[in-house]
Amino acid sequence: SNMTEEGMANMEGMDMENGDASHTNQLALNNSIGKNELGLPPLVESKDGMVDITAQQGTTEIFKGVQTETLGYNGSFLGPVIRINKGEKVTFRTGNEMSEPTTFHWHGVEIPGEGDGGPHQVIQPGEAKDVEFTVNQGAATLWFHPHPVGATAEQVYKGLAGFIYVEDENSKKLRLPDEYGVNDFPVVFQDRQFTEEKQFDYQAVLNEDGTIGDTLLINGTLNPKLTVGKENVRLRLLNGSNARNYTFKLNTGDSFQQIATDGGLVNEPNEMDEITLTPGERAEIIVDFSKYNAESDIALVNEVDTILLPFKIEGQKTNSIEIPETLNDYVVTEEEKNLPVTKKLELFGMGKMVYINGKQFDMNRIDFTQKQGETEIWEIYNKPDKMGGMTHPFHIHGTQFKIVSIDGKEPPISQQGWKDSIGVEAGQTVKLAVQFNNKGVYMFHCHILEHEENGMMGQVEVI
Ligand code: C2O
Ligand code: CU
Ligand code: CU
Repeated sequence: SNMTEEGMANMEGMDMENGDASHTNQLALNNSIGKNELGLPPLVESKDGMVDITAQQGTTEIFKGVQTETLGYNGSFLGPVIRINKGEKVTFRTGNEMSEPTTFHWHGVEIPGEGDGGPHQVIQPGEAKDVEFTVNQGAATLWFHPHPVGATAEQVYKGLAGFIYVEDENSKKLRLPDEYGVNDFPVVFQDRQFTEEKQFDYQAVLNEDGTIGDTLLINGTLNPKLTVGKENVRLRLLNGSNARNYTFKLNTGDSFQQIATDGGLVNEPNEMDEITLTPGERAEIIVDFSKYNAESDIALVNEVDTILLPFKIEGQKTNSIEIPETLNDYVVTEEEKNLPVTKKLELFGMGKMVYINGKQFDMNRIDFTQKQGETEIWEIYNKPDKMGGMTHPFHIHGTQFKIVSIDGKEPPISQQGWKDSIGVEAGQTVKLAVQFNNKGVYMFHCHILEHEENGMMGQVEVI
């Protein structure tokens, strides 16, 4: 077979700025689409509160018959799904078996600053460290990845990323689809650019405004398809790309139900035709496959016609789990809506000239302080430049925040829920109600990983 054509064209016509697809349909010509069953990361539950997570390097057969040099957690590529429970005391036993320093950052986890795994908390090759904390947040799909200064983007690009699921009493009693790998799937989207030898050469493809690629990997699988039953299936979508945005739709135009934002369940299932995720963002959706059959041509697409993930329907209609009408009790209070702005952040720039409030990241500078447990309104303004500017996915560590407003208006329904990242478009002003439940130093930054590397990051100390 012609290796050089495998996996290409998936991303044809996608525009990194806004996730727009052009209307060229390269995919019809690619008969490799859907050739491989979607990979499923191992599910790791804590044993007496212990979870072992080791960063390692190895090789992975992404392309048939070719070994690609990759990084992974507890394996050669990507990481497991770690499932933890609210109220549980857990210890992440982190180890670095790679030949370069790294850190272990828990994106979206409300964890004390000393365990957050930001750029200060480097684990040298051969070293290990225990990170202990009590899970104190509601059910959510979170993730973890490295954060060392100067190597975050490259280490993520080569494969360091995994999921964290938090479950709580509410999520257990709701009876949502939760059979791992049966009707509940983690799905991470990462576009990559391979060399002719099918290797990652990050330095060669690095783009200072966000590294994109023409080859899409989902859960590390090239040209995946997902086999599902005739039932409600839950997809936990993670945009794990360094820079690319995705707007997810079904090719049939059918709607699906959104049940969660970055950091928790939404109040009621949102019926959606599409959902956009910028880098770092998650959404859980439920697709009702009971109305399709084995002959159905159904796929998750990006915008109009770029096929991302085709589905294969198998078996008979089963007792599909009904989605409950009420899922959560998220609310932005009147008090929060009326709080004055106490922190202002201006995002500006492109490429290597990216700034927050005119400054670039300095490990030794604390940009803000905030009191533990106190809610403050952060106002984020994305200042356009002469060329218009670009969307910056803004992320804060150690907290789940609420979006109070976007340009003075209530956020769209898909963003009404706990968030830790938000795509701020050029010219937009967003107000966030931010509360930290733990102390320590936390990063906030643009989640285009190359912007983060270029200094579009600051630090808040919670006292
Ligand atoms: Cu995904 Cu600094 O984080
Ligand atoms: Cu984070
Ligand atoms: Cu940015």
